[in-house]
Amino acid sequence: MSKQTVLTGITTTGIPHLGNYAGAIKPAIKASLSSDVNSFFFLADYHALIKCKDPARITQSSKAIAATWLALGLDTDNVTFYRQSDIPEITQLSWVLTCNASKGLMNRAHAYKAAVQDNLDGGEQDGDKGVNMGLFSYPILMAADMLMFNANKVPVGKDQIQHIEMARDIAGRFNHHFGETFALPEAVIDDSTKILPGLDGRKMSKSYDNTIPLFDTEKKLKKAINKIVTNSLEPGEPKDFNDCAVFDIYCAFASQSDIEAMKVKFTEGIGWGFAKKELFELINEELKGPREEYNRLMLDTAHLESVLQKGAVKARAHSEPFMQEIRKKLGLGCL
Ligand code: TRP
Repeated sequence: MSKQTVLTGITTTGIPHLGNYAGAIKPAIKASLSSDVNSFFFLADYHALIKCKDPARITQSSKAIAATWLALGLDTDNVTFYRQSDIPEITQLSWVLTCNASKGLMNRAHAYKAAVQDNLDGGEQDGDKGVNMGLFSYPILMAADMLMFNANKVPVGKDQIQHIEMARDIAGRFNHHFGETFALPEAVIDDSTKILPGLDGRKMSKSYDNTIPLFDTEKKLKKAINKIVTNSLEPGEPKDFNDCAVFDIYCAFASQSDIEAMKVKFTEGIGWGFAKKELFELINEELKGPREEYNRLMLDTAHLESVLQKGAVKARAHSEPFMQEIRKKLGLGCL
């Protein structure tokens, strides 16, 4: 069997938190070590423009996300690691796909529909108020990201499944008209990595403001962990490890035997302070080394930039000729 292409991107508007690490980055790096996959990981900085008009924030986020991947041991010789906006063919393809995507399909995109609904719920007459065309066409740019590299498997969160289905739809339509060109991407939802809960027990997410920082100082990590919401059971009282954020986060980092031992401690009534202390020590042990490397990398912009440039050269070795081929199929750039 030929190698499968695995591809995923992170939008550059935030600083990675523990949920990004446990749910996306760590499993992606692990999977990239397998010899039967070609991995493409990228900074989705054009996607950032949809919701962020603050250049400094986008730059800082791009830097932090790049440093995070590298600090966690991504082998950039083995994978293609790049910045979306360094690959002009992606936006070229995005236009081509725009002309092959039906507007009705985009009308049904969850993110767009939610924005319209928010307007209507807020008493706005115009459902499209504040909706830019980037938000509306978001799934098309995302389709271009995937189709450009013939991605087969796309590890993402559940909220992105619809976008991948749309990409398949658009790719199928293109293939039908112009001949077999694009692989149809498939979403990969990893059930083994449970969604990490945040401080308040809901999914850890920037939008809920309940995240635990990944590479902030040790002190801040400890402080955040101490803020995880628990019930008010006293030390000595048996505690239920089901539906417990402290326990769920612990599980994302602990070995099976540590997990079993922690279950016993819960049943025996471990105090919340002690449980949190164990959680902190476990996470801190895993992150200590990468944190140092992250801090070092954040001061070495030149190195980060050169890694991304190396990735862009690798990515464009494919995207340039592929885009030429696509243009030819469309009757462009050839007389
Ligand atoms: N939309 C994705 C997110 O917000 C980020 C992204 C952009 C992406 N392009 C992609 C993910 C292509 C997978 C494949 O999470």
